[in-house]
Amino acid sequence: MRARPVPMEQTLIDLVVDAMDAIEERRERDGARFQGRIALAITAVPPDFWQVEVGDHGCGVAPAIAPRVFRPFVSSKPAGKGTGIGLSIAFGLLRDMNGHIDLAPHRQSGACFRITLAKVAAVEAVAAG
Ligand SMILES: Nc1ncnc2c1ncn2[C@@H]1O[C@H](COP(=O)(O)OP(=O)(O)OP(=O)(O)O)[C@@H](O)[C@H]1O
Ligand SMILES: [Mg+2]
Repeated sequence: MRARPVPMEQTLIDLVVDAMDAIEERRERDGARFQGRIALAITAVPPDFWQVEVGDHGCGVAPAIAPRVFRPFVSSKPAGKGTGIGLSIAFGLLRDMNGHIDLAPHRQSGACFRITLAKVAAVEAVAAG
């Protein structure tokens, strides 16, 4: 896929840290025996895209926050824990790579963030005109 390694690494780390926080929050609610899972999946989206999904079975994105989750300084975390900039930075980094990040709708439990990036061949075809 057509991506820059450093922004991509930062984005994936931020998403995994958010997933870990969400699992921790659910564990506080449901008890320490709750076993959280984080799943990363890369799938081809024909004809020209790759999708990278980071999913978890944590507390889920609060409905009040979900529509604004990529805006700066939107956070449900206690002061000192979250500043609410991780996802807004990820949004900007993906846009700079001509990609996109969104939140998968209608999750039964937990949350899933989806990154979409063009395949290298597709980008080169556009560049070649
Ligand atoms: N995997 C997730 N599960 C549930 N809620 C999430 C998840 N990822 C993000 N959120 C929600 O979106 C909010 C904004 O996320 P964002 O990464 O922008 O900020 P933050 O994690 O609060 O702080 P920062 O990333 O700056 O440390 C979080 O506070 C949380 O409410
Ligand atoms: Mg974050």
